[in-house]
Amino acid sequence: MKNSREIEPEVIAATAGPEAPANEHDSVAGGSESVVEAGDAGDPRAGERRRNVKRDREGAALSAPPEDAEERTFDLSLRPRALGDFVGQERLKKILGMSITAARQRAEVLDHVLFSGPPGLGKTSLAHIIARELGVNLRATSGPAIERAGDLAAIVNDLDEGDVLFIDEIHRLARQVEEVLYPAMEDFELNIVVGKGPGARSMRLAVKPFTLVGATTRSGLLSSPLRDRFGQHYHLDFYARAELTEIVRRSASLLGMRLDDSGAHEMAGRSRGTPRIANRLLRRVRDFAQVNQAPIVTREVALAALELLEIDECGFDGMDRAILAAVIDKFDGGPVGVESLAAAVGEEADTIGEVYEPYLLQQGYIARTARGRVATQRAYTHLGRTRRGPLI
Ligand SMILES: Nc1ncnc2c1ncn2[C@@H]1O[C@H](COP(=O)(O)OP(=O)(O)O)[C@@H](O)[C@H]1O
Ligand SMILES: [Mg+2]
Repeated sequence: MKNSREIEPEVIAATAGPEAPANEHDSVAGGSESVVEAGDAGDPRAGERRRNVKRDREGAALSAPPEDAEERTFDLSLRPRALGDFVGQERLKKILGMSITAARQRAEVLDHVLFSGPPGLGKTSLAHIIARELGVNLRATSGPAIERAGDLAAIVNDLDEGDVLFIDEIHRLARQVEEVLYPAMEDFELNIVVGKGPGARSMRLAVKPFTLVGATTRSGLLSSPLRDRFGQHYHLDFYARAELTEIVRRSASLLGMRLDDSGAHEMAGRSRGTPRIANRLLRRVRDFAQVNQAPIVTREVALAALELLEIDECGFDGMDRAILAAVIDKFDGGPVGVESLAAAVGEEADTIGEVYEPYLLQQGYIARTARGRVATQRAYTHLGRTRRGPLI
């Protein structure tokens, strides 16, 4: 199994931005611009993409994407390598496993796959698992990291037969870049414009059949021509407590950490249904246990650590509680629009929509109405507030 070209998407995203084009140091893109007419001058989404890259790096909350090298290493060491190690999501594993086996048996390329769902539920892990189970290379990049259509064309052109191209945050691809993907996904062809001005002509270039794996936290933002070109679309849901308990146990054993059932259960219940958060809590609890010389993590040890981290019994952190409190106290329980809510708690509207809100909605602490978000009885009870007036 070759994996030498595997590049973590977060690493690519970290080098992208106005001052450093993502593919500057990427040999794949070298020399391609002379034949590929590209450039996103005038691209209305370019500025937004840059802002988003910056925002990704700044995210500091417990629910945020991995932010430092240490955490990325930690994430990598705990990442499940095979479908068999991937806990939960049983239906997805069954169907995906079946189509991987069938593709292998027919010696065909796997259909393009789209994963959607909140951050930290295993989309990136699944992309790597697919490549590994197929025994092919994985080339990883992300929507905001691809600045020009030519960069993507070069990446696609460089793929070997059957390779997996993983595009994280695929909803953030610039439109011109996205258009390169349509013929590439459908007919394994690139439409290339040679020359400039009146003498320019378009040429078709065949590429080797490959599998595109896209991941997005916002499948609703994906354009329909792009979405339609995926043969399989899996939506990942939050994990049940029993599944998270298993993930915590698995991670603890990989880290050589001693943890009893009550400790694992307690941490699982406070992980916001999210494996990445479960692992993050585990890492902090491990530090706590070490410093306090607790030989084994019991419920008491876990609780003491979680209290220090200000994670409550629902797994909510400071920002979750700030959001609920703002809806109740500042907006009389709602309805409130996401922009006003964002201003009230000092967080980006996108982060609220992608990172915080999904779990609060799923757990029934807030509800969405046509006019905005409202706090439910559960939110009032959780914060110990009494409700004035009727709910919508
Ligand atoms: N089903 C799972 N079983 C075990 N660990 C998981 C699972 N899903 C996610 N993880 C853990 O959570 C971390 C984050 O997952 P990742 O695939 O990066 O999520 P996403 O790409 O959806 O944000 C991984 O490093 C892995 O350790
Ligand atoms: Mg990811």
